[in-house]
Amino acid sequence: MIEIKGLSKTFNKGSENEIKLFENFSITFEEGKCTALLGSNGCGKSTLLNIISGNIAPDSGLIVVDGEDVTKDNEEKRAMYIGRVHQNPSLGVSASLNILENMSLADKKGEKFGIKRLIRPKNRVRYESILKELDLGLENKMDVMVKFLSGGQRQSLSLCMATMKNPKLLLLDEHTAALDPKTSRVIMEKTRELLERKAITTIMISHNMKDAITYSDRVVMLDQGEIILDRPSSQITEEELLSIYTAKLLEFQRKAV
Ligand SMILES: Nc1ncnc2c1ncn2[C@@H]1O[C@H](COP(=O)(O)OP(=O)(O)OP(=O)(O)O)[C@@H](O)[C@H]1O
Ligand SMILES: [Mg+2]
Repeated sequence: MIEIKGLSKTFNKGSENEIKLFENFSITFEEGKCTALLGSNGCGKSTLLNIISGNIAPDSGLIVVDGEDVTKDNEEKRAMYIGRVHQNPSLGVSASLNILENMSLADKKGEKFGIKRLIRPKNRVRYESILKELDLGLENKMDVMVKFLSGGQRQSLSLCMATMKNPKLLLLDEHTAALDPKTSRVIMEKTRELLERKAITTIMISHNMKDAITYSDRVVMLDQGEIILDRPSSQITEEELLSIYTAKLLEFQRKAV
């Protein structure tokens, strides 16, 4: 279980560019459940994931993972139990290494060995079988450099790498947004299969209302540092979500006039 307690975060405090995102914000993410995190551009979704992963420090508040306060742990330490897939297919994988090398690095996360020592024949077979479960043929491209893979193939690989060590938490930041609709669907389905099989606690940011409802257990919508909706995905429709977005947009436009 992941608990965010009393989180506050303001960027550029005291300057004219001050951006206040969270003030005494708290939320709990239940074990083994996938939560879709929604909210308009700039409301702080990625920042929240960055604070959880240790990439950005909060001004105050606590990040508690399975009862342990990890707020002071750095990103490298947290990466041992947090997997992450970004929106950009170039992040999360090393373009100039091949699939085998990328998977070896993910497998040995945190170990201080040279890449050559990481690659063992028996692991190659194991990685091939992990990729085979995706059913995208990546297991036949183990020696291909990742820069030659398509965006969808890279995101599939990223997903495998982020989950192969069974992390306590998986952070998905619009991980299908850069893909075409068909590939996006394939990756979402693969994500669902993986999450169902491994029951990993997941936070998934999305701007796709349909995906958010279809592929999560719970939908949380943020607005100006507040939770304005928190409901089981089975109890909300795409139309309802869209009407909340539209109402917020109109409110924003009214304030701007
Ligand atoms: N490291 C940083 N330094 C200063 N400002 C930042 C930093 N990271 C994010 N911001 C600002 O904080 C605000 C929230 O950004 P964030 O990326 O969290 O939004 P988001 O909800 O993920 O938006 P989107 O849906 O567009 O991805 C934005 O105004 C952004 O410019
Ligand atoms: Mg974002």
